[in-house]
Amino acid sequence: MESLVNTYHGKSVLVTGHTGFKGSWLCEWLLSLGAEVHGLALPPPTNPSLFNQLRLAKRIKSHTIGDIRDLKTVKVVMRRVKPDFVFHLAAQPLVRLSYNKPVETFDTNIMGTIHVLEAARQVFCEGKARRQCSVICITTDKCYENKETTRPYKEDDPMGGYDPYSCSKGCDELVISSYRRSFFGRPESPVWVASARAGNVIGGGDWALDRIVPDCMRAIAKGEAIPVRNKISTRPWQHVLEPLGGYLMLGAALASRTRFMDYAGGFNFGPNPKANRSVEDLVTEILKTAEGEWIDKTEPDAVHEAGLLNLDIRKARRILGWMPRWGFETTVVNTVRWYLEVSNGGNAADITRCQISEYCNN
Ligand SMILES: NC(=O)c1ccc[n+]([C@@H]2O[C@H](COP(=O)([O-])OP(=O)(O)OC[C@H]3O[C@@H](n4cnc5c(N)ncnc54)[C@H](O)[C@@H]3O)[C@@H](O)[C@H]2O)c1
Repeated sequence: MESLVNTYHGKSVLVTGHTGFKGSWLCEWLLSLGAEVHGLALPPPTNPSLFNQLRLAKRIKSHTIGDIRDLKTVKVVMRRVKPDFVFHLAAQPLVRLSYNKPVETFDTNIMGTIHVLEAARQVFCEGKARRQCSVICITTDKCYENKETTRPYKEDDPMGGYDPYSCSKGCDELVISSYRRSFFGRPESPVWVASARAGNVIGGGDWALDRIVPDCMRAIAKGEAIPVRNKISTRPWQHVLEPLGGYLMLGAALASRTRFMDYAGGFNFGPNPKANRSVEDLVTEILKTAEGEWIDKTEPDAVHEAGLLNLDIRKARRILGWMPRWGFETTVVNTVRWYLEVSNGGNAADITRCQISEYCNN
C-alpha cells in the first residue's frame, strides 16, 4: 500500500469504464491513494449502481460521459486530462448479452481498445505534447482459446474465444500486442502498455444481470430461491480487489520505466488454484452467511459458456510480486457482508473503503 501511495499520489489517472462495477472499486481505491481520478464511460450500466452508491460523480476530479467507440471523444479527454496512467476497463463485459448484441460487443471492445491506444499514440507520442503514460488494458481470462482442460493458461498461450465476448477480448489482446510492437515497442517510447487478464470477480456492489453473485443477492433480498444456471461450471473466483491490486502493481511497474521486456506485456491475475470452485460451491458458500435457498435452473439449450477455465499466475508472482491475499471463504464472506451491510442502511463508501483497507493490511 505504501509503495502504491508513492506511485499514485497526486498523479493524473484516467479510468475508462469508471461507472461500472470494477471501475467504481478502482476509483475508490485510487482516491484512497491520493490520485487525481478522471473517468470516461457511458452512464452506469445498472440501476442501482456502485458508482452512484459511492457518489463518485462528485468525488472524482472529472467525470465524462462519452463513448469509446468515438476516437475524437477519447482524444479530447486524453488531451485535457493528460493522464500519467490509463486503466482501460470500458467494455461490454457480459457473455450472454454478447450473443444478443455481437456487433455492439465487438465494436465496443475491439474498436474501444484501438481508440484508447490510438489516442495515447497521437496525444503522447507525437508533437509537443510528448509525455510518459502507462496504459493498462483490462481484458479477461476468456481471451485464451479455451480447450476445456484442467491445464492452467499461461500468458503466451494462443488467443481465441468461442462466444462474441471472449473472442472480442482475444482480439483485444492481438490489437494490444500489435500496437505495442508497432508503436510502443522500445523502452524510449513515451507510452508503455500492458494487459491484464483476470477471471470472474466477485465483490459488493455488482448489480449486473446474469452474474451469479448479483443473482443470488437479488433473490435473497426478495426471499426467493436463487436460480442457478450452470451449477457444475468451474471458475477461478476471486474478490474484485485481487485483480485491481494486480492492475495497480502493474501500473506502478510500468511507471518505474525499468525492465521494459518484463513489464510491457500480458499478465494473468487469478486466484490460487485451490480457489477454483464450481458455481454450486459458490452458492453454497454464500448461503453460509446469508439466509436463502437455491434451485437448479440448468437450461438444456443454453448458449455456450466456458465450463473449465484456470489461469497460471506464476508470471505475476515472479515479476510483480503479486499474490492473491484472500482465500475463497474470505472472498465470499466479504462479498455477502457488503450487500447485507448496505441493505441494512450502511454507508456504501465507508464499507467499500473499509474492505480496501482490510485487504491492504491482510
Ligand atoms: N466482472 C468480471 O467478472 C470481469 C472478469 C474479467 C474481466 N472483466 C473486464 O473488466 C472490465 C470491467 O468490467 P465490469 O464488470 O466492471 O463491467 P461493467 O458492465 O460493470 O462496466 C462496464 C463499463 O464500461 C462502460 N462502457 C460500456 N460501453 C461503453 C462505451 N461504448 N463507451 C464508454 N464506456 C462504455 C460502462 O459505462 C461501464 O462503465 C471489462 O473490460 C470486463 O471485460 C470483468
